Amino acid sequence: MERLQKVIANLGYCSRRKAEELIEAGKVTVNGEKVFELGTKVSKSDVIEVEGITLDRNYNYEYYLLNKPRGVITAVSDDKGRKTVVDLINTNTRIYPVGRLDYDTTGVLLLTNDGELANGLIHPSSGVDKTYIAKVEGILTGYDVKRLRSGIVIDGYKTKKCHVKVKSVDKKKNRCIVEIVIHEGRNHQVKKMIEAVGKKVIKLKRERFAILTVDGVKAGDYRRLTNKEVAVLYSMINKG
Ligand code: URA
Repeated sequence: MERLQKVIANLGYCSRRKAEELIEAGKVTVNGEKVFELGTKVSKSDVIEVEGITLDRNYNYEYYLLNKPRGVITAVSDDKGRKTVVDLINTNTRIYPVGRLDYDTTGVLLLTNDGELANGLIHPSSGVDKTYIAKVEGILTGYDVKRLRSGIVIDGYKTKKCHVKVKSVDKKKNRCIVEIVIHEGRNHQVKKMIEAVGKKVIKLKRERFAILTVDGVKAGDYRRLTNKEVAVLYSMINKG
């Protein structure tokens, strides 16, 4: 049994907040009866109708792996008219990004209309690995690396232990390339972590998200996930 507004949102009809408004406005029926109560729980066999449209409970979800290019915002729409990651995917389904990459960050981004999987993957308890490759202005010292690995305070919060490896150093240009694997997903986390040791990220790419990499997918291109990949991602969130 799941809450009605969550089921409506998970089926991709609208956002959870919008679903709550529709329920309160008497636009939702369950098995033909109007429902106004936000906490109402429904099972798989209940027939839900929203604004006169019967929701298909055997909905086919869509899952896309996008190699996000620079200069695109991670959002469903933008009030300033900038291109969004959703604009790059050719579908009429109401998909949305799972988590966020900055405007100038490239790499693996999952998009779907499967709210259960999306929420599971971004929930801190899932702890899925995210691997980033950062080009850094300044050269990380051994001490910087140690601090980053053991957790560093950003925005008054100490980051969790993570993997950090300096892949290469360019002394002439005073730059280095760093691999960072985090299990959290705070806003601008990698950039802020590097800033906290007095250096600056000048380029950032997410090389891996859980089991997904951009191998074979050019920047700006995307592919559908395989059923096996979806099953593996589900097994990761169900482990908690
Ligand atoms: N960390 C950042 O700083 N930016 C991103 O886009 C992703 C992780």
